[in-house]
Amino acid sequence: MVTGAAGFIGSHLAHTLVQAGAVVVGVDRRDPATDRTAAANLSVLRGLPGYMHVTADLLSCAIDPLLVDANAVFHLAGIPGVRPSWGPRFGEYLASNVLATHRVMDAVTRMGVTRLVAASSSSVYGPTDGGASVETDRPQPSSPYAVTKLAEEQLCLAHSTQAHCPTSVVALRYFTVYGPRQRPDMFTHRALTAALTGQPLRLYGDGHQRRDFTYIDDAVTATIAAATIPTASGVINVGGGSSASLLDVINIANSLAGREIQVHQENPRSGDVLTTRANPDRAHELLGWQPQVDIHNGMRAHMQALAAEPATYGRAA
Ligand code: NAD
Ligand code: UGA
Repeated sequence: MVTGAAGFIGSHLAHTLVQAGAVVVGVDRRDPATDRTAAANLSVLRGLPGYMHVTADLLSCAIDPLLVDANAVFHLAGIPGVRPSWGPRFGEYLASNVLATHRVMDAVTRMGVTRLVAASSSSVYGPTDGGASVETDRPQPSSPYAVTKLAEEQLCLAHSTQAHCPTSVVALRYFTVYGPRQRPDMFTHRALTAALTGQPLRLYGDGHQRRDFTYIDDAVTATIAAATIPTASGVINVGGGSSASLLDVINIANSLAGREIQVHQENPRSGDVLTTRANPDRAHELLGWQPQVDIHNGMRAHMQALAAEPATYGRAA
């Protein structure tokens, strides 16, 4: 089962699993019949015999029947995004990231699922001195979103320690994932869209923020590996190994498009950290994984996808 299957990462994961011969139940509360983004994300899966899609809210639906015969659950459903988590939407973050996760863990326990892979986040580390974050570092989340992601991964791990719980949990701390179908609120999508259309790009801060950008295919490979490795429960960094600043991203987008993005600088946003960087050792050791796609090649593929589907993915993010 893949939760959040109508989303960016979940739709890629479900597609790759089905292509590899797995039978996948995808669950998401966004209905592709009425939600344009969900429909676009799921279009690659439509009609594939190994894929069954269920539109349901994990806060209220019966989860057990969806888990019959499931040998792994990839729990990607959640409300992402750092900046909108301040203010009135916090309840949605809490509900989907924490309460729904609690229901999913109760269900996998009852149904005897042996592995759950949870989508955690690099944001749990909070501000750093610019060095690489190791999984054993003390988390210091600096946004409400990051607090819910830390709660989510720890909740999964707490369930897994219970004597009656048959489920081992691998919580992956993804570092800023990009590529085709990336959420339109994210920076890479916006920079490439600005480069393609000539619309201005809003830059929050001076652009010296750095991210350990992770290409979607690499994130998916790590996620699938996490379902099968013989390991005890724990957390693992999934960082793309491409440390780049926002100014670097703008420069790459300019050179790919052959035009200069008009940048409108605004104040930095609350909760944003200056730098994320993954220590890759545990991922390498436990998952046998290392990222394959650097930021230049990844952004080229991302731009090609946007250029090919301007109406679907929306350029005016
Ligand atoms: P996304 O918004 O594209 O996908 C998340 C999906 O979860 C959405 O389709 C949404 O409808 C669904 N969902 C939310 N609440 C639900 C509920 N109660 N019941 C059923 N479905 C629900 O986001 P994404 O970028 O694909 O991120 C996927 C996961 O990975 C999230 O948990 C996010 O916190 C985490 N993550 C993402 C990134 C990134 O860079 N994209 C980095 C770190 C962690
Ligand atoms: C991303 C995802 O959005 C989170 O869901 C995820 O948990 C997180 O990665 C992670 O690594 O864990 P973020 O790093 O904030 O969060 O990624 P973007 O939304 O792409 O923002 C990157 C930077 O660009 C931030 O400093 C942001 O302020 C800036 N930005 C974003 C702009 O300057 N302008 C914009 O229009 C959008």
